[in-house]
Amino acid sequence: MKVVVFDNYEEVSVQVAQLVEAQILRNDRSVLGLATGSTPLGLYERLIEGVTSRGISYQNVRTINLDEYLGLGEGHPESYRTFMTDNLFNKIDIVTENTYIPDGTPDSAEEECLRYEQVIDDVGPIDLQILGIGTNGHIGFNEPGTDSNSLTHVVELVASTRESNARFFPSINEVPTHAITTGIKSILKSKQIIVMATGKDKAEAVKTLLSKDMNESFPASILWNHDNVTLIVDRDAYQLVKS
Ligand code: F6R
Repeated sequence: MKVVVFDNYEEVSVQVAQLVEAQILRNDRSVLGLATGSTPLGLYERLIEGVTSRGISYQNVRTINLDEYLGLGEGHPESYRTFMTDNLFNKIDIVTENTYIPDGTPDSAEEECLRYEQVIDDVGPIDLQILGIGTNGHIGFNEPGTDSNSLTHVVELVASTRESNARFFPSINEVPTHAITTGIKSILKSKQIIVMATGKDKAEAVKTLLSKDMNESFPASILWNHDNVTLIVDRDAYQLVKS
């Protein structure tokens, strides 16, 4: 795992945007793995800017998102589909049919998981996967204890994740209890992975990740099994790592 430290969130966002755009310039049919959450918002702003200022086109790009809440339909304001539409897809020239996110209101969640894993295999492999990290080390919605061989599956969200995501909902009672997430093995199918971690709240998680103790109780640590992972952090998130 390569580690790159920048001064602040802004610089992290700019750097990761440069890497994403370089990938698209290398191959305009690239498959990007995308995340929701607060961390990639600055990255998405830079990517939107890249379309107007740097002539980057997403016309042929495909995107595969990590996860979706179960029970939230496409039109729900807090569904991850809506998040991606509002913060990125509607503001770049991507074709909606080329953007993949698990269906949050499937007839059968189990069948949706199988279908989505097939999407990852058929549309992928993902050329460049962007990941955030939870304070408990989760990636996607793969909470501590998730099998490192997991493919796309249904998860029950742990209390800390629901509490942390409650900031986007009117009350914690409205935060869904379950989600569909790509599994750890699904994520490891990506050719290249970038983990973004910013802010002091992520300092403990970054320290644990860099202790190299591979353990399913800290899902992100399984990324040490992949040979092309870059952790891009700001100083706040890196502050507990002894140099
Ligand atoms: C989002 C996702 C999550 C987040 C993680 C960090 O699609 O899969 O694993 O990346 O919870 O969230 P933020 O960026 O809000 O701190």
